Amino acid sequence: MVKPGRLQGKVALITGASGGQGLAEAELFAAEGAAVILADVIDAPGKALARKIVERGGRAAYLHLDVTKAAHWTRAVKLARREFGGLQVLVNNAGIVSRTPVAEVTDREWARVIAINLTGPMIGTRAVLPLMRDSGGGSIVNISSTAALVGHPGVAYAASKWGLRGVTKATALQYLRWGVRVNSVHPAQVVETGMAANASPAFRAANRQAIPIARAAWPLEIAQCVLFLASDESSYVTGSEIVVDGGATSIGFPHVRNVLADQYHRRKGK
Ligand SMILES: NC(=O)c1ccc[n+]([C@@H]2O[C@H](COP(=O)([O-])OP(=O)(O)OC[C@H]3O[C@@H](n4cnc5c(N)ncnc54)[C@H](O)[C@@H]3O)[C@@H](O)[C@H]2O)c1
Repeated sequence: MVKPGRLQGKVALITGASGGQGLAEAELFAAEGAAVILADVIDAPGKALARKIVERGGRAAYLHLDVTKAAHWTRAVKLARREFGGLQVLVNNAGIVSRTPVAEVTDREWARVIAINLTGPMIGTRAVLPLMRDSGGGSIVNISSTAALVGHPGVAYAASKWGLRGVTKATALQYLRWGVRVNSVHPAQVVETGMAANASPAFRAANRQAIPIARAAWPLEIAQCVLFLASDESSYVTGSEIVVDGGATSIGFPHVRNVLADQYHRRKGK
């Protein structure tokens, strides 16, 4: 007997689905039986994956969607209702990074990061909630960051991801009555993403050094957690944060750890 997929019968919309983590989530969700709507402002990779999923016998569509535009969300809701008969999962994954400190950030950069990383997921959530209610409930997964748990050099990025954590809690509190669960996921550094590619080699190396597992994550390692939150396996989980950071934020003071390790090795060397 073939085991049913973990998302069998569900329709999932993933934003930023042409990028590293979004692509991995779309592929994994389709493999687990979901019908997937891939959405992004960069069209080619998402379109290609949607085509591949359909060729394999799955259900998928690509939609050009800028998360900051309410009209695009209205279109997405119409597509989900008309072509797929509803919506049970939204992954607010689209995002941009900015590493500019507060004394240097321009109003324009601040506004753009907040619009895409924070206002976009809020507009999206607002747009899909009634459809999720009509679809028998659902799960919203907000891709935040460890930048929402500790400090981050980019003030706008940190503010946007802390804000998204707040949107998650506020929504979770309000919409259980519609059967909607809302959680956030907090990755540290993820390779094979546009975001990691545009970090300086020094920033990447410093990050890796600070991560106890001593490497960055693969997109699939984040997608596996998102899958759990999207599926009914997490039916009792709402308003929660899953930190997927190789131990980075829970280890305490990595610097102290490094100093102690250093002293230990020096003593051994004597
Ligand atoms: N890569 C990392 O190290 C890392 C770490 C922590 C959190 N994150 C978060 O993970 C999420 C996914 O990023 P990624 O790592 O896959 O990077 P990525 O740059 O590969 O993907 C981001 C995607 O979002 C899309 N996007 C940007 N602006 C958009 C808009 N206005 N509307 C719709 N789509 C838009 C991009 O085109 C891209 O495809 C982001 O929210 C990011 O902040 C990433």
